[in-house]
Amino acid sequence: MTDSIHFLMCSPTYYDVDYVINPWMEGNIHKSSYDKAKDQWHQLYEVIKEHTHVYLVDPAKGWPDMVFTANAGLVLGNNVVLSRFLHKERQGEEPYFKQWFADNGYNVFELPPELPFEGAGDALLDREGRWLWAGYGFRTELDSHPYLAKWLDIEVLSLRLVDSRFYHLDTCFCPLANGYLLYYPPAFDAYSNHLIERRVPPEKRIAISEPDAVNFACNAVNINEVVIMNQASEELKQRLAKVGFRVIETPLTEFLKAGGAAKCLTLRTTEPVLEDVHATVSVTSRTIRMEGHLLDAGTMNRALDLVVERGGSFKVLNFDLGAERQSTSTAEVRVSAPDQEVMEDVMTELIRIGAASLPEDEQDAQLEPVPAFGVAPDDFYVTTIYPTEVRINGEWVRVTHQRMDAAIAVKETPQGVTARCKLIRDVDTDEKVVVGVRGIRTVRKTEDRSRSAGEEFSFMGAGVSSERRVELVVEQIAWEMRHIRDQGGKVAVTAGPVVIHTGGSHHLSRLIREGYIQVLLGGNAIAVHDIEQALMGTSLGVDMKQGTPVHGGHRHHLKTINTIRQCGSIAKAVDQGVLTKGVMYECVKNNVPFCLAGSIRDDGPLPDTQMDLVKAQEEYSQLLEGVDMILMLSTMLHSIGVGNMTPSGVKMVCVDINPAVVTKLSDRGSIESVGVVTDVGLFLSLLVKQLEQLTNPYAEPQVI
Ligand SMILES: NC(=O)c1ccc[n+]([C@@H]2O[C@H](COP(=O)([O-])OP(=O)(O)OC[C@H]3O[C@@H](n4cnc5c(N)ncnc54)[C@H](O)[C@@H]3O)[C@@H](O)[C@H]2O)c1
Repeated sequence: MTDSIHFLMCSPTYYDVDYVINPWMEGNIHKSSYDKAKDQWHQLYEVIKEHTHVYLVDPAKGWPDMVFTANAGLVLGNNVVLSRFLHKERQGEEPYFKQWFADNGYNVFELPPELPFEGAGDALLDREGRWLWAGYGFRTELDSHPYLAKWLDIEVLSLRLVDSRFYHLDTCFCPLANGYLLYYPPAFDAYSNHLIERRVPPEKRIAISEPDAVNFACNAVNINEVVIMNQASEELKQRLAKVGFRVIETPLTEFLKAGGAAKCLTLRTTEPVLEDVHATVSVTSRTIRMEGHLLDAGTMNRALDLVVERGGSFKVLNFDLGAERQSTSTAEVRVSAPDQEVMEDVMTELIRIGAASLPEDEQDAQLEPVPAFGVAPDDFYVTTIYPTEVRINGEWVRVTHQRMDAAIAVKETPQGVTARCKLIRDVDTDEKVVVGVRGIRTVRKTEDRSRSAGEEFSFMGAGVSSERRVELVVEQIAWEMRHIRDQGGKVAVTAGPVVIHTGGSHHLSRLIREGYIQVLLGGNAIAVHDIEQALMGTSLGVDMKQGTPVHGGHRHHLKTINTIRQCGSIAKAVDQGVLTKGVMYECVKNNVPFCLAGSIRDDGPLPDTQMDLVKAQEEYSQLLEGVDMILMLSTMLHSIGVGNMTPSGVKMVCVDINPAVVTKLSDRGSIESVGVVTDVGLFLSLLVKQLEQLTNPYAEPQVI
């Protein structure tokens, strides 16, 4: 018998499953037997009484879950933080528990209304008293944790629960004497597991299996070497015995129907305070502001989902719904995270979707020197495709050369401050680089809901077209290309050799000749096979007229490469009259710049192929400057490279026969990209036909 340990219990006089507020209650309404529940509760009461002293609080009619005293509050020393139940079904228990604590001489702390915290169900003291483990995710709000730290003067470690069956921390986590921990890891997110592993050494962690977890083995009462629980497997009992614990099983099946067992039915009211333990809490909060068509565009949902997915928690402080069809909505959301690391991760994502801090909370971006040429400081901010601004000396500065996966290099000169996206290999020691997530915002264009198809590229939405939609999509792409050409705009094409193999060379040549394309980007292969076709009538040895392989054709592309090498370059081959048609010929003749970026699998290569990949990337990026539209034609390698260099606002069309490739390429979360799943030869043929129709709508359709 340990006199120094006391528990509080409440007899099950009014216990029943009356409502559903957790998955265990589902299907169990009024299914528990009162007599059986009473017997089981008494058995538990007797077992605990054998080891310690038990106080009783009077049950109250109409509050069936009052039997679960773990949720009365959280006790440490003479202080108690009273629960604020999330569900109204339990809120009526609060005054009864408050009265009991007051009558028994505790200082009662009460959280602000609307800030849920469910007592010792979601807050468990390390049994050595070193810190408090506090859960959040289902019943308790993360923002309550700083109050626990302040009032109880203890370090709080926040753990996020992710499995609704384990809705309270004490259903899946049980600190034991001597620093041991009994727990069910899948009930927590990865970050919380990492935190647990950092604090509890492997030899002290007793991770249990799912069958034990669903029998509520973690919902146990630990009194020194005794662990009292509903049920444990032989294996678990042996593991616990090995480290000096004795399991006492006492059936609590009637209470499992309401989602509780031994620990839920008790509250330890004597928790000693350690002199040298003091409050630290790493929970951090920020308020963000979002503006736009937050509901229609799904931005609001996306923002709140990602806060939770990344381990944070939120509270919507204001939501001002645009009253008219055209007006935008604004929202202010308080975002909390268990620590700074999670907050930075959450904020990075929120910035990406256009959230910004409140103007009054905004701070300058954090800048750090470049440690060495081509090396960014640790924790540098990684850019996205969206127009970005950084706050420097109180002013917002637009970042130039926007692209994704770059650093933001800031230069302060007498003429002013400049900020530009730079690949890490290019950052220089006379620049500073933005680190962290402070003072950064992305500027998102608010889409106008009234823009009609035909006027805007948004008609297609970001998505993948099925075969049925291809013709319609091509018609709209043709309209857009015609529009760009008429405006003197710029269209870039990135193309793979499949364009030639599928008979698309003729169509692509024509698009170049007729001024629809201003830049060609690709690899060695598109040029090799295009020239092979022009010189020898085959592509990869296949006769392009007959569609059949020709004898010795597999050597054609090597002979082609050799011929061009002999001429010195593709342009020289055109000058010398060796190359007289095809895609590359049209580029040379029409002064359409091209860049062929090398790869490990290249044959030859052609003299024009840039085998220095850093130079090739630079050339690609220069040629893409000011581009309005990019056609990505059946080359995953070059299309991904191009996509990474391209800021939002550039229209992108990705054509590939493989839906997975199209989804990957067009999934930029922006409405300017569209995927077309089809044969690239067919696509080009349809495109040329549509452009012809736009030029001469009354002409008889030509067979191409
Ligand atoms: N002889 C050579 O030198 C040689 C030959 C081949 C490739 N390469 C080089 O290898 C690199 C990668 O080559 P890549 O771009 O061809 O390969 P890739 O794998 O990056 O892309 C080919 C894409 O074409 C798609 N595709 C296949 N058939 C299609 C069809 N009928 N219609 C539409 N899409 C279709 C595929 O799904 C794939 O996504 C390039 O740099 C290229 O120059 C060199």
